[in-house]
Amino acid sequence: MTTEALWLISMDGLGAWGREGARGVIGPREKAEVEAFVRPEDRRLAHATRVAARCVASAFVEGRVSPREWVFDRCAEGRPSLRHRRVTGLELSLSHTDTLLAVGVHIDRRRRSRIGVDAECVDQDGPWLATVRRFLPDREREFILAMPKGSALHHFQLLWTAKEALAKASGKAFVEVLGAELFAIGLDGYRSRSMPTSRGFDVQNWTVRWLSHGDHVVAVCGPRGCRPPRVHGWTMGWLVSVISPPA
Ligand SMILES: CC(C)(COP(=O)(O)OP(=O)(O)OC[C@H]1O[C@@H](n2cnc3c(N)ncnc32)[C@H](O)[C@@H]1OP(=O)(O)O)[C@@H](O)C(=O)NCCC(=O)NCCS
Repeated sequence: MTTEALWLISMDGLGAWGREGARGVIGPREKAEVEAFVRPEDRRLAHATRVAARCVASAFVEGRVSPREWVFDRCAEGRPSLRHRRVTGLELSLSHTDTLLAVGVHIDRRRRSRIGVDAECVDQDGPWLATVRRFLPDREREFILAMPKGSALHHFQLLWTAKEALAKASGKAFVEVLGAELFAIGLDGYRSRSMPTSRGFDVQNWTVRWLSHGDHVVAVCGPRGCRPPRVHGWTMGWLVSVISPPA
């Protein structure tokens, strides 16, 4: 049995994000990652993201571990993790756009599965049709190109976010998942009807769900049969109040 939750954090207040208030929340490894960004706005986003991941993990375990106590790590492929001896089997997955941070958290006490999250902003004028033509496998491409433009964009976003989320959850390279036919994944709604693909990538072990959030589509991928995640909405103001509660 696994437990999933999804936090959607509006990054609208990011311009006012002061790193001083969150001093000491992140560890040396995260600090080094933040400092590696050249532009101040990128450093601000990277810092807020790492603080937010810790706060989300703490909220998920109902405060049994404080945001400062987590031990951060990142595997060679890039997946971040937060660990603590009082918590077994916690996994998280992050996705950020300019205006939204999505953090999925998952606990599998048997440590057999992970979660993957992807958020994409709807951009009708972006080069999405070129992406469909260039990157999607034949049947998915034909399926999408046969639709009226509005539905085509919607279905492209469902497929794209599902693939990103699936790559993050499964640990497969994104290019491998991109080229796999996921055509049957939940285009009827929210239930996975997945099938093994021609490249031997078995997607039957996963369930993907989506939700719309303003102008974003967010996909959450968890182990097959997992329950829909509990969804929480936070603002930057809320985040600041978590890390620097009023005296
Ligand atoms: C690389 C990739 C993660 C970028 O995704 P994106 O849509 O551009 O950006 P998102 O905001 O959605 O995701 C970025 C976050 O994903 C997480 N991430 C990065 N690599 C990851 C991986 N291999 N597995 C799981 N999560 C990963 C990180 O938390 C990252 O944010 P952070 O750097 O601030 O911690 C995406 O291509 C992907 O899903 N890859 C899957 C694994 C993969 O193909 N890796 C390539 C190297 S082998």
